Amino acid sequence: MTTTDPEAQVGQELLRFPPDFVWGAATAAFQIEGATTADGRGPSIWDTFAATPGKVHGGDTGEPACDHYHRYASDVGLMAELGLGAYRFSLAWPRIQPSGAGRVEPRGLAFYDRLVDELLDRGIQPVATLYHWDLPQELEDHGGWRNRDTAYRFADYAALTHAHLADRVQLWTTINEPWCSAFLGYGNGIHAPGLVDPRGALEAAHHLLLGHGLAMRAMRPSAPADHRFSIVLNLCSVSVDQDDEAHRAAAHKVDGLQNRLFLDPLAGRGYPEDVVARTAWLGDWQRVVRDGDLEVIASPVDWMGVNYYSPTRVAPAPADHVPDGPFAGLRGVALLPPRGELTGFGWEVDARAFTELLERLGRDVAVPLVITENGSAFPDAVSDGEVVDLARTRYLVDHLRAVHTAISRGVDVRGYFAWSLLDNFEWAAGYSQRFGIVHVDYRTQARTVKHSGRTLARVISRNAVPTSGYDLG
Ligand code: FCB
Repeated sequence: MTTTDPEAQVGQELLRFPPDFVWGAATAAFQIEGATTADGRGPSIWDTFAATPGKVHGGDTGEPACDHYHRYASDVGLMAELGLGAYRFSLAWPRIQPSGAGRVEPRGLAFYDRLVDELLDRGIQPVATLYHWDLPQELEDHGGWRNRDTAYRFADYAALTHAHLADRVQLWTTINEPWCSAFLGYGNGIHAPGLVDPRGALEAAHHLLLGHGLAMRAMRPSAPADHRFSIVLNLCSVSVDQDDEAHRAAAHKVDGLQNRLFLDPLAGRGYPEDVVARTAWLGDWQRVVRDGDLEVIASPVDWMGVNYYSPTRVAPAPADHVPDGPFAGLRGVALLPPRGELTGFGWEVDARAFTELLERLGRDVAVPLVITENGSAFPDAVSDGEVVDLARTRYLVDHLRAVHTAISRGVDVRGYFAWSLLDNFEWAAGYSQRFGIVHVDYRTQARTVKHSGRTLARVISRNAVPTSGYDLG
């Protein structure tokens, strides 16, 4: 395409996405809904965690979040205004089964009926995530994801929720970022339930994968033929400064714990032997892997959701060095601080690493990919009714170019969901980090579409990004 393309109205060449590319934005229930005690909702681990002093920045809680529970209709209106073709949201398990098992709360299901119907009325395709971290507290009281039984409870919840919405929702994701639930929730404790138990984190990872597989088996047989199932992983691109054996080995170790620990069993390859061997010093977490589990985990998916924000930089370290944070199970590697351009959250900006990650997944993953989250946090301010978030706009456009490059090199990427539709409760950072393409004033609940949101709307209407620059006319 050239500058003479009349529909483009952009003074430069365009990088066009495939004609049926899906454009959307993503959110998660606990981060936006508020109304944490409405209509019979039970407490989740995030309610408990946020109520524990010192756990969440500023003592912030799931109230009021974006009060989306009551404002969903106008929020869907905003999505329509932006031209979104799809919306990825999560269902709150504690709204649907307040204690995580047994009794179903019809008022909880009714909220998702209203949301889905509103989306369909506006021609927006719903993409449902069954679990985005808000485990019913009662299940945590019995061991949470460290208890095998939670995987079976999750499959029951998935089956009943899928059956309820099956006539209207075709795209489903079981679990969002099991790595975070396992390693941040049970490994270094910066997320709910806030436990520091590195072996328990590995056991939780297995039970999360088992829950995914059991849910696939519970939903698939009764699903209409056009239903498409997936899991969403936060896969990282691991960068090193030198191309020598020691650096390659360090990268391989981190890749193992972050990526291969999930990709391999999902693909039917079982747990990577090097990761099992390297984590054995934490105790025999493989004792929780029972006969038949690996077959369940490898139940085929139709697509894979990929969340990407930032690269991970590593270097070799002395053999007994244990890195801080969620990689505590690994010895002999050091995590390097982010460098270069950083977001307001301090996360490194690196769009090229995104292309590299997608190319690697294009080789290693047998199903189509969908970018289920990508975005950046910066402090924003409303001035004269506008939010001119140029840094976020640049991040967005650069990362879309990175996706386009991967597609042009043959990677099968079917869609892109911006994180996030709305500024929201950013887990341990509370309301201090804004990821939205729409600004939320938490006091008045006023929404203001940011410059980045308008830019995404233009990208969607053209199904293209410019080859250079950020001015989309
Ligand atoms: C991801 C989470 C999402 C959001 C972004 C910033 O790890 O899935 O809920 O918090 O990070």
